[in-house]
Amino acid sequence: MTLILGIETSCDETGAAVVDERRRVWSNVVATQHELHERYAGVVPEIASRAQLENLLPVVSEALERANVQPGRIDAVAVGHRPGLIGSLIVGVAAAKALAWSLGVPLVGVDHVEAHLSAAELMTTDAPTTPVPYPALGLVVSGGHTSLYRVEGPRDLTLLGRTIDDAVGEAFDKAAVILGLGYPGGPRIDQLARTGDPGALALPRPLLHRDSLDFSFSGLKTALLYAVRGKPVGRGKGARFEHDHTQLTGRQVADFAASFQRAVVDTVVTKLGRAVFPGCRSLVLGGGVSANSELRRRVLSFGEESKISVRLPDMAYCVDNAAMIAGHAHAQLADGDAADLTLPVIATTRV
Ligand code: KG4
Ligand code: ZN
Repeated sequence: MTLILGIETSCDETGAAVVDERRRVWSNVVATQHELHERYAGVVPEIASRAQLENLLPVVSEALERANVQPGRIDAVAVGHRPGLIGSLIVGVAAAKALAWSLGVPLVGVDHVEAHLSAAELMTTDAPTTPVPYPALGLVVSGGHTSLYRVEGPRDLTLLGRTIDDAVGEAFDKAAVILGLGYPGGPRIDQLARTGDPGALALPRPLLHRDSLDFSFSGLKTALLYAVRGKPVGRGKGARFEHDHTQLTGRQVADFAASFQRAVVDTVVTKLGRAVFPGCRSLVLGGGVSANSELRRRVLSFGEESKISVRLPDMAYCVDNAAMIAGHAHAQLADGDAADLTLPVIATTRV
């Protein structure tokens, strides 16, 4: 059995996990820093990297403990080295280099976005999952990325379209701030939307021009802002809006959350319909927003209608985690793609 220790520190989550070559997850530990960033309604890079430094070693030790393996039993160390916040990435990459060097095992540098798309293959039980049928349509929906790919294999991705402004998770987070729901907004909107009326507020479906596979969410966010705050009043320093979320009733907040979520999901599903290509055998999702309950439901019915197999990650592997890093590293190692101690940190994705 080949065991890979994965490390993930690209943003504000610190993750470590142990995964074997069947993609069976032996342990998956994630420390979040949400409470540190909540008052700023978004991630503050300097705070994130400091917290990564504090959290990393305890998280790695706990992942080894929960997997019940000694460090000497690890066959390779994998780390997300791109894309992400440079200060946060450096912490994970430096630790992974030190561990790989001291254990005398290969180091594997993994692209975080590519890893999100392999999260659907991870297994939490011994029941084997069927491999993803390729070619597939891949959709990564996270706080930093919204991208569609033609996927010929786990490491063979061709970009078909992506957001030209906000990522979909970022749009959820900003919408939550507008509605006074705090950070991170995605899960809170998802929760509240269950009790709201998605038809209550007419919001645009930003589809761009007829055949475009790109996304745009900033206009939708602004439409919600005006619906909540009314018109801007005054100019310069005294400029303000007519009202804000504190004047909304609980019922209205739930209705607005449900309407926003419906507009986002409608848009994403329409793009999937446009992007399906002849011979496409499956649809694979990944990223934090693939945890969204309405998106999961709609994507599953889209798959049924289009007769395409749909692969969604387990809830634990949607948001940032190290199991997806370790799982993807198995595919890289099988290709002989190990790094050395010069592995760089890079702010952008390879795909
Ligand atoms: O993949 P991820 O952990 O980080 C990035 O790689 O960016 O995604 C985080 C994003 C956040 O924007 C968060 O609000 C969103 O995923 N998210 C959700 C849900 N759970 C997390 N968005 C909508 N519904 C959810 N249930
Ligand atoms: Zn991510």
